[in-house]
Amino acid sequence: MDIKAPPGVFDILPKDPQEEWHNSHLWQFVERVMRNTAEQYGFQEIRTPIFERTELFQRGVGETSDIITKEMYTFIDKGERSLSLRPEGTAPVARAYIEHHLSHDSPVQKFYYIGPMFRYERAQAGRYRQHHQFGVEAIGNSSPEQDAELIDMLYTLYTRLGLKNLRVMVNSIGDAPCRIKYKEALKNYLKQYFDQLSEDSQKRFEKNPLRILDSKDPQDKEIVAKAPSILEFLSEDCKKHFEQLLLLLNSLEIPYEINDKIVRGLDYYNRTVYEVVAEELGAQNSIGGGGRYDGLIKELGGDDTPSTGFATGIERIIQAMLGQKAETPQSYHPTIFLIPLGDEAKIPCFQILNNLRINGIKAQMDFSGRKLGKIMNYANQLGSKFVVVIGDNELKTKQVELKNMETGEKILAPLFHLSRILRIEVEGEDFIRIWKEMNAPFEQPLEAEFFLKKLQQSIDSTKHLTEELQTAMKKMQDIL
Ligand code: HAM
Repeated sequence: MDIKAPPGVFDILPKDPQEEWHNSHLWQFVERVMRNTAEQYGFQEIRTPIFERTELFQRGVGETSDIITKEMYTFIDKGERSLSLRPEGTAPVARAYIEHHLSHDSPVQKFYYIGPMFRYERAQAGRYRQHHQFGVEAIGNSSPEQDAELIDMLYTLYTRLGLKNLRVMVNSIGDAPCRIKYKEALKNYLKQYFDQLSEDSQKRFEKNPLRILDSKDPQDKEIVAKAPSILEFLSEDCKKHFEQLLLLLNSLEIPYEINDKIVRGLDYYNRTVYEVVAEELGAQNSIGGGGRYDGLIKELGGDDTPSTGFATGIERIIQAMLGQKAETPQSYHPTIFLIPLGDEAKIPCFQILNNLRINGIKAQMDFSGRKLGKIMNYANQLGSKFVVVIGDNELKTKQVELKNMETGEKILAPLFHLSRILRIEVEGEDFIRIWKEMNAPFEQPLEAEFFLKKLQQSIDSTKHLTEELQTAMKKMQDIL
């Protein structure tokens, strides 16, 4: 087939031999940690559509931002509406909050989302035309505590994913009046270097001079290094907000640095802004960022509602995890793979397969009927922990050999009660509980033997535990 995916997008596959970060089990792992962390911090999931009216982003993200001027996927639908694939998640969440009068339930709402975003950017490593974000929005709270909670949450998330050596850069860009004064001072300073600025920065000089501060152009960087700092232009209230935020971050020992050049590429921010950078990602090293956007909901037609949020790119997280050799979970593998030998075995084998799954065990069966060696290879490729062959003899004796594919060890087990053995041996379930659950006696001495062995092991370990408890008790009593 000639048709390939368009530039800047990619498939997430069970196993991609070329690009490890495309492997779906890594995505599932990262998303699981994100969901758990979000819920622990009190955020609930929101899912908004993939496309919205273009106007939402024009008004929300800002007419002068790169996202709106260059990067939106905009199209006219059959009803003559201008729609855009969402380039980011904050404006849609704000729209949903207003549209569904969510403030009526409680003015303070905490949302999280995981999903694809679309930006027509120059495709390169770490920068995609469809990328995926985990984002959170805390709506209705103006306190620095709320900003600090989010920075802590983002940092905790990265730590849980095993990421290290991240730079957390925080800044305050003040409110509109602070920025009016600052823009004047900045333009005054930049004026003398105007001819040396990059083309992009020259364009921004009138419309959005603050964006010149985070230009990636080396010469621009040199020029802005000596520019006046926005932190010198903060009002008393903005300054207090920023100082309290820093005290809160200090109290949790979050290793941040103040960087007065961080302004972020979206126009809705005020006061707190931050960005987290992972150096090994190269040119596209911003792994997450966010800030406060107190004016956005009013701008979109809602009440005056202070809000703050962040988003982090899942592609870049997984790439950084692999780059840093962070611990990642294993991909899917079946606990047991059943191989029927001959037609007679197919139906009983199919029933055993079903029973194993009812008991929560990851089981697969060969449906191909190929040669035994080939099936064994396939089961091995899948990473099956145990393989069982079921033929006439096994059906007659009602016993099978569970072959451990890692050690080669074989366990003799009752054919129709494989699940009990696996629940204890592989899933680590309590054998006494399983024994109590059994409403039929052991069918075969074989199974009774297995349980008796477990019982003996348990009695032995209880003796050891009693000794440990007595030693601990003595130590505690000595302190009293
Ligand atoms: P953003 O900084 O534009 O913020 O994007 C957040 C994260 O998405 C970035 O730090 C980066 O990891 C990832 N990202 C962005 N563009 C791409 C791309 N083309 N390819 C790969 N990854 C990318 C926002 O979108 C704001 N809505 C964040 C926010 C939420 N602020 C307040 N609430």
